[in-house]
Amino acid sequence: MQIKEIYNLAINKGIEADFRGREGIERFLKRKKEKYEKLSEKEKEEFDKEALENPFLDSRILNISQDKEIKRILVGIDIEPAEILLAKEIGNIDLIISHHPLGKGLANLADVMELQCDVLNQYGVPINVAEGLMKERIEEVARGINARNHQRTVDSARLLGFNLICLHTVCDNLAAKFLKDRIEKEDSLMRIEDLLNLLKEIPEYKEALKFGAGPKIFVGDPERRCGKIAVTEITGGTEGSPKLYEKMAIAGIGTIIGMHMREESKKEAEASNINVIIAGHMSSDSLGMNLFLDELEKKGIEIVPCSGLIRVSRNQ
Ligand SMILES: [Fe+2]
Repeated sequence: MQIKEIYNLAINKGIEADFRGREGIERFLKRKKEKYEKLSEKEKEEFDKEALENPFLDSRILNISQDKEIKRILVGIDIEPAEILLAKEIGNIDLIISHHPLGKGLANLADVMELQCDVLNQYGVPINVAEGLMKERIEEVARGINARNHQRTVDSARLLGFNLICLHTVCDNLAAKFLKDRIEKEDSLMRIEDLLNLLKEIPEYKEALKFGAGPKIFVGDPERRCGKIAVTEITGGTEGSPKLYEKMAIAGIGTIIGMHMREESKKEAEASNINVIIAGHMSSDSLGMNLFLDELEKKGIEIVPCSGLIRVSRNQ
């Protein structure tokens, strides 16, 4: 496979798994196009044209040094200049894939957060409330990212002649869909303890348990009933607004499964009696990456995991 084929496959898989459905994505892109059409010529020049076709602007091709047939890929959750040097040491690496966004993928992280509004709405939070509370948070994330050294790793890849892409929300979508399919069919009278055990059966979490990073109860008691379990925090860029928990409780959500949670959010969830299970960050990111990497493996590509990726193959 060529880099562009790998990338297109990832975007397609991300769309297939997206909670908004293909129709929802089409609406999202159509709106971008309409906005683009209204821009002045100068604004159009500055506009990131990929936004018209790619609904996941945090998943990008960042550097192509040599557009060749890809046979061996170094894949990590966080790729930094150290991993680029590592690729050089290992040798015969045709492409490097980072899960967390880099370069223009990082600069556009906030763009994918709108997805959270739709997901919350599907769980019964009114869209106006979700959009109102998320707006503030999306702006906060955009400002926070602004100060970062976006191109650092991309520059390293370019200097050492490595192809580099990042696949963030596309893979988080795969993890979210996998967890939703696995968990939401369970009985709402199931206890937190049972939900925790169910997660621990998933190989990535089982592996993370061995080094102390397994699924944990952040809010709630093992004995408590789950109520309606929601997978609202696995995909959509990064954590949403802490003010949402109260609204989620009103909407009928009993337990949420997330990758990670800030202290402020934990307190809000607690105050709203929402149980929180934190599945684990690297392990959840690995789950989403693995579901995509399996597709590449099927095509004969060799995967070299690094930087926190717990590689589990579901092929065969
Ligand atoms: Fe992550």
